[in-house]
Amino acid sequence: MKKTVNHSLLFARAYEQAEGGKISRESRPAFHLTPLTGWMNDPNGFCYYRGQYHLFYQYNPYDTEWDAMHWGHAVSHDLLHWTYLPAALAPDASYDSYGCFSGSAAELPDGRHLLMYTGVRQESGDKAKEYQTQCIAVGDGTDYKKYEKNPVLGSGALPEGLSPYDFRDPKIWRTEDGGYRCVVGARRQDKRGVLLQYESRDGFEWRYIGVLAENDGRFGLMWECPDFFPLDGKQVLFVSPQDMLPEGFEYHNGNGTVCLTGRMDGDRFVEEHNQAIDYGIDFYAPQTILTPDGRRVMIGWMQNWDTCKTTGYEERPWFGQMSLPRELFLKNGRLYQQPVRELAQYRSGKTTYENVLLDGEKTLEGIEGRVAELDIRVRPADPDNPFRNFVMYFARNEKYHSILSYRPHESWLQIDRKFSGSRRAYIHQRRCLVPDRHGEIRLHVILDRFSVEVFINDGEQVMTATILTGSDARGISFETDGKAVMDITKYAIFD
Ligand code: FRU
Repeated sequence: MKKTVNHSLLFARAYEQAEGGKISRESRPAFHLTPLTGWMNDPNGFCYYRGQYHLFYQYNPYDTEWDAMHWGHAVSHDLLHWTYLPAALAPDASYDSYGCFSGSAAELPDGRHLLMYTGVRQESGDKAKEYQTQCIAVGDGTDYKKYEKNPVLGSGALPEGLSPYDFRDPKIWRTEDGGYRCVVGARRQDKRGVLLQYESRDGFEWRYIGVLAENDGRFGLMWECPDFFPLDGKQVLFVSPQDMLPEGFEYHNGNGTVCLTGRMDGDRFVEEHNQAIDYGIDFYAPQTILTPDGRRVMIGWMQNWDTCKTTGYEERPWFGQMSLPRELFLKNGRLYQQPVRELAQYRSGKTTYENVLLDGEKTLEGIEGRVAELDIRVRPADPDNPFRNFVMYFARNEKYHSILSYRPHESWLQIDRKFSGSRRAYIHQRRCLVPDRHGEIRLHVILDRFSVEVFINDGEQVMTATILTGSDARGISFETDGKAVMDITKYAIFD
């Protein structure tokens, strides 16, 4: 291992507490996965294997900063309660000494589990020269051994003119004839992103097929963490581009997530439609699986490289959360998302109000809390004189709050966490354009202490953001400019 362990006192103490089960419930999310201690980024190797869900993740066990990438590992029966297992991969081989970067998993015909990941080493200690190759490890769901012939895709597997310093994040899948394919992100010399496709009979020996898709100067530069799968009669390609340029409200600048839907022409993907996957602030590098009952479920890193240098977490021994797992489907050519249906099993108390007239500020008894599910429908009280603004404050106390606001005449919904208690001037606000439905909007809001996920109009769009506010800020209140009518149901969850 590259780094010697240098736990700070806080870190060591937190680790002991977490190990002893003494860690305060209030100090981590109730059902979003975090590392026990340390840093987490992308989901890796998300799969259903030997009767349970496995989720690996980019993991630095030594600190709450990115470094020395391992693969952390957790398992679950319901995608919501996770049990930590020992890290599956550590950067301890010559070809991955700088880190075991992102990748995916598949089952071998003999039942063993295959992990495919990017092994990174630095050339002569030069940080700019991170040499990236694709490697594999085989295991039984707990212990994994790296393949002695790694890497399985080295720079020789790259077509002419592609950079060996940006060649990463293999997504593997099994083909109908029992073989394997994978798609890997790469970059041309002019920095444009390209996805390369490879095939294999056995998962160990790979052959280049060709370019699956490329960004052609659109959607940022390098395409990280591709995923590729069929959904409702279409072929879907997810990518997480670096260095995006904004396009109206559809794409924000920086690191974003893009869903491309289309069809295949031979081995090449033909795009028909594009959209953002998440319109909020903190979402990146999602991966999907097919569940045993046939649902396509996605999980993403509930953070973003543009926003992860935040403060407010210093007192916590972990950094990084996974999003809520979300069921995916296509409707009218668009990607829709819904929280996994398993979440409904963990509802306890229910508080409902119907036809609440909002005209100015309002709080409602029983509508508060930091771990909650809210189903909200807001519409103009008078269609001829619609309200101008609807605001929901949450995670609120005298000092802090975050805001969701909807302006029907401008057709946008905004998330704003400027007053959520962070000290740094990082990205606080994002807006998304929502189609006008006569001033009516439906919001399904999932709060889990340090995050909010908003499923808009039955999941047609989703906005995700993390918040750093201490968990004693539990207030929820509403405010309108003009008269609106609201139906609201709050479920206590994971109580
Ligand atoms: C995406 C990413 C991947 C890489 C990993 C490193 O968030 O940059 O491209 O494999 O993180 O941790």
